[in-house]
Amino acid sequence: MASPARRLVRSDPQDDAQAAFARDVIAGLTAARKSIPAKYFYDAEGSRLFEAITELPEYYPTRTETRILKDNGAAIVRHFPTGATLVEFGSGSSVKIRIVLAAADKLAVYVPVDISAEFLAAEAASLQKDFPRLSVLPVAADFTKPFVLPAAAVKRPRVGFFPGSTIGNFEPRQAENFLRHAARMLGRDSTLIVGVDLVKDTHILHAAYNDAGGVTARFNLNLLARINRDLGADFDVDGFAHRAIYDDKLGRIEMHLVSRRRQRASVCRRVIEFEPGERIHTENSYKYTLANFSSLARQAGWTPLARWTDSGEYFSVHALALQGAPR
Ligand code: AVJ
Repeated sequence: MASPARRLVRSDPQDDAQAAFARDVIAGLTAARKSIPAKYFYDAEGSRLFEAITELPEYYPTRTETRILKDNGAAIVRHFPTGATLVEFGSGSSVKIRIVLAAADKLAVYVPVDISAEFLAAEAASLQKDFPRLSVLPVAADFTKPFVLPAAAVKRPRVGFFPGSTIGNFEPRQAENFLRHAARMLGRDSTLIVGVDLVKDTHILHAAYNDAGGVTARFNLNLLARINRDLGADFDVDGFAHRAIYDDKLGRIEMHLVSRRRQRASVCRRVIEFEPGERIHTENSYKYTLANFSSLARQAGWTPLARWTDSGEYFSVHALALQGAPR
């Protein structure tokens, strides 16, 4: 019999991620209603396309949130205790955090948490150089799961930062669970700053996800190209069309990939069949009212302290407080 030590297999995080990707794609494409989780948009090409989306004239969220942070930086950082640790959930590119860090002169530690280790290290090094009095301690992890904070971050009061309306990708129940998870990660008496996109005129929402230049379409279709690249699948990417629609009852943008004809694709030795017009649901992007988001936060155990919006109320930034211990 093999000893337990001999059965130990070193796990490669890259292989684990690849296996999880394959598992999620197969599960999603073999279900009665086909879907793929939105988090898989962000390979190198997808991240590049998302950056291009944030610069589109039709895509208001990034520009509007950045403006809100610039206009209200001093008021926002008033909620940061002296000597605090700022933990960013899903740090990605560092445009917004730079605005916050420039305003937050009493912050001691910044912990960017992101799944993409290489990108994270490069951004952290550049931030450390530009904010020499701050200690920048990156953590490569899936921010939706429990992760270990660096020791230097733990002894300090904690503030969380979750911008970009990434929370809109979650179903409302999952969003509530995420807010509870953030409370457990940040600990008693912590603060959380969250960026949330707002319900607005349907035409504005529609244009933001159906840009004239077709960048959002390329972003959506890149998911199939990524599956071809990373999992050796054989999707005919041109055989699918981008579709984004606003469901005003659910308060969400839905993105789909629509099969242009009857076709099949093989993914990890499995054959997936598509009817003409059949859809793969690739993303939900929930929009909240100010009142709805505050009540969701309360439901998750947070107390809304303040919120900031632009003059058109297109986007919002909320300061939430945990009064006592997480529950
Ligand atoms: C990064 C999830 C906030 O929902 O607006 C942009 C992603 N999808 N265009 C969003 C996205 C299509 C974006 N989030």
